[in-house]
Amino acid sequence: NWTTGNVIDEQVAAIRELVGDKRAICGLSGGVDSAVAAALVQKAIGSQLTCVYVDHGLMRKGETEQVEKDFVAATGVQLKVVDAEERFLKALAGVSDPEQKRKIIGREFIRVFEQAQAEIIADEGPAVEFLVQGTLYPDVVESGGGTGTANIKSHHNVGGLPEDLEFQLIEPLRKLFKDEVRMVGQELGLPEEIVHRQPFPGPGLGIRIVGEVTKERLDLLREADAIAREELTAAGLDRDIWQCPVVLLADVRSVGVQGDGRTYGHPIVLRPVSSEDAMTADWSRLPYDVLAKISTRITNEVRDVNRVVLDVTSKPPGTIEWE
Ligand code: XMP
Repeated sequence: NWTTGNVIDEQVAAIRELVGDKRAICGLSGGVDSAVAAALVQKAIGSQLTCVYVDHGLMRKGETEQVEKDFVAATGVQLKVVDAEERFLKALAGVSDPEQKRKIIGREFIRVFEQAQAEIIADEGPAVEFLVQGTLYPDVVESGGGTGTANIKSHHNVGGLPEDLEFQLIEPLRKLFKDEVRMVGQELGLPEEIVHRQPFPGPGLGIRIVGEVTKERLDLLREADAIAREELTAAGLDRDIWQCPVVLLADVRSVGVQGDGRTYGHPIVLRPVSSEDAMTADWSRLPYDVLAKISTRITNEVRDVNRVVLDVTSKPPGTIEWE
């Protein structure tokens, strides 16, 4: 007889028993899985858990604050935030190739996370023995079987494991599906924005800028993305779409006219899709008035953007992300 209450009680008891008076570390990505895993372990062992959040500067507007403020307020978790924006930007300078970007972001992430881990161990001593992971049931199955998408793009799940690991793993969500994880998160009192967050890639906005990643381009994309999300939410469409990447074509310019002047700016691509599992997807038939509102606002409010285009490709042949 499955209830979220039972799952929570069982896991809390098991985690307490396992950890005893030792300590645990958990990497937060801003996503649902790591947030719910952390909240569950926090409920079990309280201040024996330290969470680490690596801010790589590639998050969407407001997301880092959501982890730093709302998640901490909801759980009381002990959080170490590492501001690594500059480091990531430096490592990404001059790089346009998507797979190269993923490799760099994955590599830097692991380095920064390991450094944070070492600092926590230096503070807390050898009692730090456990690492919490938000592994879900489909992840467990998939790592045995292997599926298509992973072969097409190297999915560095940010929050992924360092290789030479001396930690014991705690994976409290191993038997759960995504919708069950959301229910557990809700029951644990996590903020709605975290519990119902749509999928977002680990490399973040780094793979939504077609071209080189720079701070200026990231800021521009963050604004455009925030407008699209705001309008989709206002129109009540969040649960109808699987996710809606907003992509900056940084190396493309087109001619436009704004006010009484000619412009030569960048296009923004909207990529709303519906999907069951991200393996295949269809482009979402969003209402024209919502698209019109997003387009008007982005071209009015985001400097250097003079055109908004809609991606009407399904997957296959397109992938969901542009990179
Ligand atoms: P694609 O673009 O391959 O995306 O159709 C399928 C799903 O995976 C997400 N995605 C990623 N997630 N690291 C991630 O953690 C990545 O490098 C990555 N690339 C794509 C994408 O947002 C979609 O949900």
